[in-house]
Formats: sequence, structure tokens, C-alpha cells
Amino acid sequence: MFILINLKTYVCDSVEIARIAKDVSEEFGVRIAVAPQAMYLKDVAETGVETWAQHIDTISGNANTGRVTANELSRMDIKGSIVNHSERRLLLAEIDECVRDAFENGMETVVCANNPNQIAAVTTLGPNFVAIEPPELIGSGIPVSKAAPDIVKEAVESAKRIDPNIPVLCGAGISTGEDVSAAIRLGAKGILLASGIAKSNSPSKALRGLLE
Ligand code: G3P
Repeated sequence: MFILINLKTYVCDSVEIARIAKDVSEEFGVRIAVAPQAMYLKDVAETGVETWAQHIDTISGNANTGRVTANELSRMDIKGSIVNHSERRLLLAEIDECVRDAFENGMETVVCANNPNQIAAVTTLGPNFVAIEPPELIGSGIPVSKAAPDIVKEAVESAKRIDPNIPVLCGAGISTGEDVSAAIRLGAKGILLASGIAKSNSPSKALRGLLE
């Protein structure tokens, strides 16, 4: 199981959440990674937690302004990147470039998709994971694994038809252990979540609650 915590632009203590995630990962023997805002990547990586970027940019040539590149991220020991998050949509050709660029720099990718058809399309690009996240449930507190189980199941089937070796993560509204169990029962191999941890008064309790 893989739990990827996307801290988005939430006002939270990224380093504290990273330390908690590292401890909980070791305690439960579960792979947990944290994706903070770009300016906190270095501090979060220094805690020793597996650290991911929220986005990478594709570039052409050497002169590009305001871009975050896989090449530099990998030099900072950033293990992977979310690509095509619902809040940072890309064109299919750009997703393709991001996945290749990350791969060439030794980084993993989770490519997000809104629905099972998009899951099929992005699975063909060969990322390490795909993630199904219906946008209307993101940040809602209503778990996709319970509110839209058919979407998760269809996404798992769509990905399997294209490449059975690419695991599907499930995200949107996940905040409890029960939501996680429901996702796993539907065939997801992990969870992509944000507000359940970043907005919690006790990220430690929230994260442990997901796994207990
Ligand atoms: O990237 C994770 C995400 O979009 C889900 O957000 O707040 O519903 O867990 P949330």
C-alpha cells in the first residue's frame, strides 16, 4: 500500500507533518510520502520522509523561467511527482513528457485522472501509478470509496485492461481507516489524500487513524 499526502497550498506545518509521516511509516511498515509546496521540498526531504513534488514542468532548452524541473528535483533527492492533478491539469502530450522526464531522472510519477476513461488514457503513458480523483469530491470530506465505488472499480478495470502492472490509487474525501479499507476492497493499491491530514488538528492522530 502507498499513501501519498498532498499538502497542496494548505497553511500547515509541512516539516512537522513530514516527521509524523516518517514515524508512522516506520511504525506501520507502510510506504508513506509527503508532497509539500515547492519551497518546502528541501526541508521536508531533510526529515528523511519520502518526498514528492506536487507538479513538474516540462521545459525546452536551457532558458526557462519559473519552472520546476525533474532534473533539479532528482538532485534534491525528491523521489517522485504528482502529474496532472485536478487542480493542475495538463494536456496529454504534456503528461507524456512529464512521465518520461521523471523516468529519465529516476523519479516516479502518479498521474491523476478525473474518470475511468482518462485513467485508461494516462495508463498508456506508463507512469508508476495512476490515481482516480473525481473533482467534485476533492476536499469534500465525502470519501470517493464510499460515495462513488463504481468509479473506483471501473478505474481499476480500465487501468488493468491497458497495463495490469500499473497500480491505481484512489483519492478525494478520504479521511478514515474505513475509507481506506473500502478503497482497497475496490482494488485500489493506495491513497492520495490532502485535507484529511493537512487540515487536521492532529495530523498524527489522523494518519494513524487511516492505518489502524
Ligand atoms: O491530491 C489529493 C486530493 O486532491 C484529495 O484531496 O482533500 O479530498 O483528500 P482531499
